[in-house]
Amino acid sequence: MSIQEIQNNKEAYIALCRQYIKRDGLEKLLDYLEKTDFYVAPSSTNYHLNIAGGLCQHSMNVFHTCMAIYNNCVKPHLGKPTCPFKEEVSEESIAIVSLFHDLCKINLYQVTEKFKKDESGRWVTYTGYRVDDEFPFGHGEKSCLRLYHYMELKQEELLAIRWHMGMFDIAEQGSAQRYAFKAALEKSPLVCMLHNADMLASNCMEVTTEM
Ligand SMILES: [Fe+2]
Ligand SMILES: [Fe+2]
Repeated sequence: MSIQEIQNNKEAYIALCRQYIKRDGLEKLLDYLEKTDFYVAPSSTNYHLNIAGGLCQHSMNVFHTCMAIYNNCVKPHLGKPTCPFKEEVSEESIAIVSLFHDLCKINLYQVTEKFKKDESGRWVTYTGYRVDDEFPFGHGEKSCLRLYHYMELKQEELLAIRWHMGMFDIAEQGSAQRYAFKAALEKSPLVCMLHNADMLASNCMEVTTEM
């Protein structure tokens, strides 16, 4: 991503935050993001949007996807006898959980020299990213904690961010985690919406760049 694209994305991201989020603490949170690598960080080391600016782009992709899921798939069913949910989800909640769900990735990926074989089998170096987790608190958990430092959150917003990795976070951890995830899904449509928006964005809209 070019420096200009990163700057354009940053402005678009901040505009989305201010348009949809009126909750106390937003400006202090934006001040904090300014001091971090949020706008230039990649979204992953080896998978989706593993390039400078990927994290901000991914966050906006998840936001637009989550809004589309809500308006097209969830909202038309609310209150029907076939739907377990009655209450509408606010656009502010969708914006908060989408735009901030991966705050755990701030200062997580460090630029590093890596090795690979070229076409003729020779080892060559290239610049990539490695994970350096200074505070290994959990993926969704760390995003919740970072965000809550600046902003009061509703229970369903916390649950959506905590569980946004869905089963990927809990495959090896036994039934208690699976039950908790299922129970979270039953609390609010926001939990299912964010997880699926994250899956759709990272798997259908964001390629891996071969370094
Ligand atoms: Fe994530
Ligand atoms: Fe994500």
